[in-house]
Amino acid sequence: ALVPDLAGRHVVVTAGGTREPLDPVRFLGNRSSGKQGYALARTAVARGARVTLLSANSELPDPAGAEVRRVGTAEELRDAVLKAAADADAVVMAAAVADFRPADRAGQKIKKVEGRDPEPVVLVRNPDILAELSAGRAAGQVVVGFAAETENVLANGQAKLARKGCDILVVNQVGEDRAFGTEENEAVILAADGGETPVPHGPKEALADRVWDAVTRRWSAAG
Ligand code: C5P
Repeated sequence: ALVPDLAGRHVVVTAGGTREPLDPVRFLGNRSSGKQGYALARTAVARGARVTLLSANSELPDPAGAEVRRVGTAEELRDAVLKAAADADAVVMAAAVADFRPADRAGQKIKKVEGRDPEPVVLVRNPDILAELSAGRAAGQVVVGFAAETENVLANGQAKLARKGCDILVVNQVGEDRAFGTEENEAVILAADGGETPVPHGPKEALADRVWDAVTRRWSAAG
């Protein structure tokens, strides 16, 4: 960007997808590549921010100029983001956080036993990090969530924005070959003040810049 409009700001971005272990070698995971979160980190660096990137299991190279911390599970991500958020002007939850994790993590690799059915996997809820961040945010701190929706994108997005209590929700239209792992995104940026900004299909960097524009508007509105 020509104008470093995020200069003097500390922003925290989460990226990738959490992995919830079943045993030392197996996990429940998701297909998030981390590309949108990394694009958010790169564009924030380009616009002058101090950037902390909390990366969950992404294989992408560290963005130059960002402080990168790696996490594995949702609980590790929660601890890292609450710590980093303490002095942050904005927190953007672009990571795909597992809603559930296995209730037990076997200490040793789970073995198959001849003639015996496998044990069922019992799941428990993970903490909702975005809701927790939103409830605990300091005055002037802007909290941004992402949502992937396949249908009723606007209505589901508005409901989720209210439910999570965040300032901004970026609603991605997803489907079989959309968003996850691809280079491009199509989204609507919903703001708690009622603002709806459609972002046409395009590079994740372009969506990232529109998200920082929306964050900047919230800072201005807060005075
Ligand atoms: O509820 P849903 O998973 O659709 O919400 C997505 C948004 O909530 C994302 O911003 C994601 O990072 C965040 N999230 C979270 N903690 C969870 C689940 C989702 O912070 N346990």
